Amino acid sequence: MQALLDHLQPGSADWVLAQSLDAGRLPRHIGVIMDGNGRWANSRHLPRVAGHRAGVEPVRSTVETAARLGIRSLTLYAFSVENWKRPRAEVETLWRLLRHYLRRELDHLVDNNIQLRAIGRVEALAPQVRRELDQAVAATERNDGLVLNLAINYGGRTEIVDAVNAALDEARRAGELDDFRVDESVIERHLSTAGQPELDLLIRTSGEMRISNFLLWQIAYAELYVTGTLWPDFHRTEFLEALLAYQKRDRRFGGLRNAAAGNGAEEPCMVEAGLPAR
Ligand code: FPP
Repeated sequence: MQALLDHLQPGSADWVLAQSLDAGRLPRHIGVIMDGNGRWANSRHLPRVAGHRAGVEPVRSTVETAARLGIRSLTLYAFSVENWKRPRAEVETLWRLLRHYLRRELDHLVDNNIQLRAIGRVEALAPQVRRELDQAVAATERNDGLVLNLAINYGGRTEIVDAVNAALDEARRAGELDDFRVDESVIERHLSTAGQPELDLLIRTSGEMRISNFLLWQIAYAELYVTGTLWPDFHRTEFLEALLAYQKRDRRFGGLRNAAAGNGAEEPCMVEAGLPAR
């Protein structure tokens, strides 16, 4: 948090917003559906790819702000398993932009202790894209600050299917297939975000009220923040506003607010998900 305040102009709008944040109640893991690039371009009579190009700057600023705030994980939805349905020229522009981003930002990621990870079926990417991605991931793997997950060729359902299959393979190799049962912890351990906090905040730009197959497992109790702002216009101010809105939410995780639960002395009825206390 202090790293962000030190970076901002004292008295500026962003500094005032950052000052109002409670450093102890920041989300641990934020996911972002970066939507609206095409509409941003259309409204300017530009080709759709111009919107994607303009979308790189908010990626940079969101990553930088999250790192300065001390957020633990940030997951950006860069390319879904469904995005292959788009015209070839648009898809190729997205790969070019990813490579451009990696080349331009790698030093910044390394210097700022950011660990880059790729989540999704990256094995399907073109070899040169895959190589640059792998190199960037390797160059930052010792960093222990912000974990930046780029969701690339990612789908939430695909991820859960892959997790179950990985768990089955593991049990088969260990000769434990006969007794194998899936439970929540088995799936969690095999997700691409294993070891990272559950999603606390999901931000979606462009006003669409959809999840779009993003982090289906991880968003179970995430707070949703949908803004009409199109992704290329999503600047630091709006990111800070999303964090403030998050801090005003009353997160109950299926239980009651402290006040509604009385003096807090009552024993919870349930001790474990789905199991009443006896
Ligand atoms: C959705 O907007 C956006 C995408 C499918 C791509 C996101 C890519 C970027 C933000 C640029 C580069 C990213 C990185 C990580 C360097 P849309 O095209 O569906 O917009 P529309 O709904 O207005 O058509």
